[in-house]
Amino acid sequence: AATAAYEAENASLYRAAVATNHTGYSGTGFVDYTNVAGSSVEFTVNATAGSTSLAIRYANGTTTNRPMDISVNGAVVASGAAFDGTGSWDTWATKTITARLVAGTNTIRATATTANGGPNLDYLDS
Ligand code: GCU
Repeated sequence: AATAAYEAENASLYRAAVATNHTGYSGTGFVDYTNVAGSSVEFTVNATAGSTSLAIRYANGTTTNRPMDISVNGAVVASGAAFDGTGSWDTWATKTITARLVAGTNTIRATATTANGGPNLDYLDS
């Protein structure tokens, strides 16, 4: 699998916005899901075929889970994956999901499932 981090601010965003109003992110910013259900961040990931660990770096400054559906190439591989509070919007944590990727280009999307939107998203690493 690819080893480089895929920065959320460079991904395809739907009803989400690049932001920089908190500290500790990598790259040039992070993505704010703007408190909308169905908002999403879609990464294009190059991989070799096989089961891969997907690390999603996020912050959730609330005490309420911000669940998201994680899909790979259009199929949900983690439904309502929990993105629990991290203590503050400046404190980042990593959520790991295992998924099967195909050789070459894969589309990995993280979609907020509640009206709170998703957590703030920093990057995906595979
Ligand atoms: C705050 C925080 C944002 C965050 C938002 C949220 O406004 O500053 O970074 O995205 O809460 O509830 O998602």
